[in-house]
Amino acid sequence: MNSLWDKESLTVLSIESSCDETACAIVRDGVVLGECISSQVPIHRLFGGVVPEIASRNHAVNINTVVADALSQANVTEEDIDLVAVTYGAGLIGALLTGVSYAKGLAYAWGKPLMAVNHIRGHIAANYLAHPDLKPPYVALIVSGGHTAVAVVKDYTTLEVVGQTADDAVGEAFDKVARVLSLPYPGGPEIEKLAREGKANIPMPRAKMEGYDFSYSGLKTAVINYVHTHEQKGEPYVPADVAASFQDAAVGVLADHAVELAMERGIDKIAIAGGVGANGRLREVLNNKAYPHGIKTYFPPKRYCTDNASMIGMEALVQVRAGAPFAPDTLDARATIPLVERK
Ligand code: KG4
Ligand code: ZN
Repeated sequence: MNSLWDKESLTVLSIESSCDETACAIVRDGVVLGECISSQVPIHRLFGGVVPEIASRNHAVNINTVVADALSQANVTEEDIDLVAVTYGAGLIGALLTGVSYAKGLAYAWGKPLMAVNHIRGHIAANYLAHPDLKPPYVALIVSGGHTAVAVVKDYTTLEVVGQTADDAVGEAFDKVARVLSLPYPGGPEIEKLAREGKANIPMPRAKMEGYDFSYSGLKTAVINYVHTHEQKGEPYVPADVAASFQDAAVGVLADHAVELAMERGIDKIAIAGGVGANGRLREVLNNKAYPHGIKTYFPPKRYCTDNASMIGMEALVQVRAGAPFAPDTLDARATIPLVERK
């Protein structure tokens, strides 16, 4: 049991640097007091995707300012902070190391405990920031750039992963399809925007997977082949229709699996986690499928779907309340962490 679990009010300073956003937040009892995100998207866009070395360097350059800004926005100082939290994985190892080293240094210098947070658990906890009424058990649909999974959140610390992707993550598929359509990085929001002007009238393959697993490589390849074949033959095609057809196929299977799992387990809540959760079509399709079965859907506000530090702070508070241990002095960054591992 950690030393803070029963303290009446808790304020956490949290840091996130797993990919291309350098972020810090101050979260008190589930309320965000201050937050700052320095996005490197414009830099990586020049390269069509995240360049890990450049990401690490920019995290190191920006982290001090981002932390200072979050503290000043929240109007708090060192004395008001009960603990420091940091994403220790999964993500780009160099990028994670910047945040982990900084958080360890800060916790040591301030004499505060440090909580290590699993990035994907953070994405799930983003829901608690907006929906304090969301309580386990519920089904979590995890849809990010690196993960695609459907899980049962049994209690605040127990996750049963029931289905995962066998190959690409759904966000990765959005990004790759966007590249084929010459859209800028990150591709997800660009595909969503373009799809609004098109019709989902191109047949797309649907992978036949065991149980609740997913596969996106077949769908991605089908889109790439469609575009290349048309270009090679000099035949015109409508990029907006390609975007809409791909998007509908990609989100349809996500919604199906989440609703089927909820029904099989007799659970009446589904919460979305991760960057693709910002997709309006996914929200619409999931709502349409869940509603007739009396299943309520939860979505974090769009800005908390993609990477941010507030969700990391929220998850740290959940962990503290559940009595989870603080991080050891030997805490290291981890590029991959199984979803079900606690630390
Ligand atoms: O969760 P996230 O910010 O980072 C990871 O932990 O991976 O997710 C990033 C992914 C990217 O693949 C991005 O293209 C996708 O989320 N994404 C979207 C949308 N916004 C972000 N995909 C579809 N529609 C969106 N509106
Ligand atoms: Zn993420």
